[in-house]
Amino acid sequence: MKNSYSNIFTFNKKILKKTIKNLNNGKVIGLPTETVYGLGGNAYSKKSIQKIFKLKGRPKTNPLIIHYYNINYAKEDVVLNKYFKKLYKKFCPGPITFILKKKKNSKIHSYASAGLNTVGVRFPKHKVARSILKEIKFPLAMPSANRSTRVSPVSAEDVYDEFKEKINLILNGGKCKIGIESTVVDLINDPKILRPGIIDKSKIAKTLKLKINNSYDQKKNRSPGMMEKHYSPGIPVLINQNKHDGKSAFIYLGKKCRNKNFFSLSKNLDLDEAASNLYKIFRLIKKKGYRKIQIGKIPNKGSGIAINDRIRRASNS
Ligand code: TXA
Ligand code: MG
Repeated sequence: MKNSYSNIFTFNKKILKKTIKNLNNGKVIGLPTETVYGLGGNAYSKKSIQKIFKLKGRPKTNPLIIHYYNINYAKEDVVLNKYFKKLYKKFCPGPITFILKKKKNSKIHSYASAGLNTVGVRFPKHKVARSILKEIKFPLAMPSANRSTRVSPVSAEDVYDEFKEKINLILNGGKCKIGIESTVVDLINDPKILRPGIIDKSKIAKTLKLKINNSYDQKKNRSPGMMEKHYSPGIPVLINQNKHDGKSAFIYLGKKCRNKNFFSLSKNLDLDEAASNLYKIFRLIKKKGYRKIQIGKIPNKGSGIAINDRIRRASNS
């Protein structure tokens, strides 16, 4: 069924057919996952991968995450090690991406993995993404559906705001439940977190019975995409603020709302809920015409670690 946007569609059997046809023909589409909306295309097709990079304005050195239905589909392309198997069992399908060795005979196009011999692999949980992945004969290369350095989209309308009519199919799956990107964990040697997410370091350490390192806060050893300038709402962002300047939008945690310039991420101080509201509130503030965002202190634990990572990068833009 169509709505007021010419390229946003509610998902149903007929649209699934149309989606598969589009993907088989090398087209790139917008679709929901439980984390954020993605810009998906055939990971084996050079044409599709080139389109994704071009639409996003993404540097060719930044590899894409490859999305699969399940472990049986992924084993064709990547080497599955013991850490992967434990984490897969515990968290998949779900909001976690694994960096694994690419198989020599892998069909993933080298442009998708930016020429690296490793691949970021994810098994999304959202039912729309899963119904598509189950039916197609290739995995989906799928970055977040935003232009490079901008905020990830958490609704079909957000995807429209990013690309307008440059893509002809955006599947509407409602607002993303998690609202920030998946945790990226590098499993090539000792497991380390490249990008924090709602599956945090302590949950991964507990599952693997190991001490886990972060590498997202080191200059070297970082994921190619973890640029310092990222997640930008397009206006200045100031973090760790304790005093409102009287005119900026002020993002905070909790109930005490002084006036219309105040935006709470979670009234109950729930950090998962706060993460899920962050990008939505960034976009809302921008739409309301504010010129600057101030953000109060966010506790650096659980999902707060991922929130602090994203807002720090937003403040560098
Ligand atoms: O939640 C998500 O992961 C979303 C949804 C759509 O699945 N996708 C997403 O993709 O956030 P993207 O392209 O916006 O971010 C992918 C991150 C980048 O930081 C990239 O550098 C990193 O994963 N990455 C991908 N492949 C990698 C590899 N082989 N080695 C290291 N980092 C990699
Ligand atoms: Mg992204």
